[in-house]
Amino acid sequence: MHHRYDAIIVGSGIAGLSLALKLAAAGRRVAILTKKNRADSNTNYAQGGIACVTANTDDFDSHLKDTLEAGDGLCRVDIVREIVREGPARIRELIELGLKFSQDESGAFDLGREGGHSQRRILHVKDMTGKAIEDALLRAVSAEKLVALREHVFVIDLITARKLGFGPAGGNDRILGLYALDALTGKIETWAAPVVALATGGAGQVYFYTSNPDIATGDGIAMAYRAGVAVENMEFIQFHPTTLYSLEQKRFLISEAVRGEGAILRNLAGEAFMPRYHHLADLAPRDIVARAIDAEMKKSGAPHVWLDITHKPEAELRTRFPVIFEACETIGVNPARDRIPVVPAAHYTCGGVVTNLDAETSLPGLYACGEVASTGLHGANRLASNSLLEAVVMAHRGSASILRYLDTLGARPVELPDWIPGDAHDSDEQVVISHNWDELRRTMWDYVGIVRTTKRLERARTRIATLAKEIHEYYWNFRVEPRLLELRNLTQVAELIVECALQRHESRGLHYILDYPGHAAHPTDTQVRRR
Ligand code: SIN
Repeated sequence: MHHRYDAIIVGSGIAGLSLALKLAAAGRRVAILTKKNRADSNTNYAQGGIACVTANTDDFDSHLKDTLEAGDGLCRVDIVREIVREGPARIRELIELGLKFSQDESGAFDLGREGGHSQRRILHVKDMTGKAIEDALLRAVSAEKLVALREHVFVIDLITARKLGFGPAGGNDRILGLYALDALTGKIETWAAPVVALATGGAGQVYFYTSNPDIATGDGIAMAYRAGVAVENMEFIQFHPTTLYSLEQKRFLISEAVRGEGAILRNLAGEAFMPRYHHLADLAPRDIVARAIDAEMKKSGAPHVWLDITHKPEAELRTRFPVIFEACETIGVNPARDRIPVVPAAHYTCGGVVTNLDAETSLPGLYACGEVASTGLHGANRLASNSLLEAVVMAHRGSASILRYLDTLGARPVELPDWIPGDAHDSDEQVVISHNWDELRRTMWDYVGIVRTTKRLERARTRIATLAKEIHEYYWNFRVEPRLLELRNLTQVAELIVECALQRHESRGLHYILDYPGHAAHPTDTQVRRR
């Protein structure tokens, strides 16, 4: 089956939905493809909120300074400045869509504080900001006739002019569409469009323990890389310091906003240890807090540390953090009386598909917005709650660029060939997928975690290469299905993380490597690109 649109957006989180609304408002036909249900996105899980300068006591320079400090020398200053400045206008649009940020008794925004922020500047909807944003955007999208939202459609690969061998004279490549598996029918469909925007989120699932939902398998990053698009800074994987300790692989996030309201990290001896690591103590940037927790756990052999907010009244905690309170209660912890057992877990992919300030990638017609992209905002470590801000600003800027690009194109659409299934048949060895899925994520957790060494990275590289070869063979021999496609993408992303980590001969931000403990004098971005 063939489909044709002005633009296809892959992913239905804050970036994808915002972009779709803006393109439709300009009269363009848009398809949003999402591999699961429409609300299955990382956005939905964002608890803390959206960082934006709104208070009289705050200013853009201060937000800029905090972002640069967290980014540890690798942020692109012009991009940070622009994103921070555009924030208030985008927040107004969210409010116009019906989003109601939490307010104090005077009717002013109830601004939260998180690690690395010198001011209270986090707009939030209690501890369920992402869900509130997602709900508001989905409501708006469902009322928009020019947007078709298709669920359970798994994009396999991008179609480019060069791949089809009919690039325009001069050899310039450009995007023509994509192939996608309809997971409900098992059919592979061809989607043609002069514009494809990746809004697929990050890749937390590449690690055994993660705060991310199951969908976070790095699909957009892997696809873009396979299409020859530049990917950068993949070594900067942010480990959130505080997820609820459990033996489950999927770990429930305990928002940094809890520390913003005064929670203190304690080791098992009861010591508040963070002042030993940083002058901002429990509100130090995330890389520092995660490493401190890791060091305390390694020193004592304990499986977790404690987060202590028992000085706050129960009623206040239940009102401000209803979702977190309930999650703690499911393991028998009442945060007003008991310390919460917490551990770090993989949380955010700071690197990704390289884009400029208009969300354009190195491939004409291909755009990337949100966690999948690397704009230069986060540098070596993302400042808390800057990601939702980046997503709305970049969706806005990307939409303007896409509209300009569409206006330059001729009317004659390109005919795309069908997917060729070859003699692929159903697999009778699903265990290969589940085994490799597990092995890959354990390898990343054990060898490419919070503290790295060259030897461990090389070990990981060897193991991942073996897995990649096996998965590649499997991909070509058997009929594709979502779990296999995700594993193929995760393995690709794992290779990119290790490759970037091996390229960086210094410790900076989220990349801490014992062989190179100091900063390099002239840091640069690490970049990988398939030729
Ligand atoms: C949190 O609430 O701690 C997570 C927010 C973020 O990752 O920016």
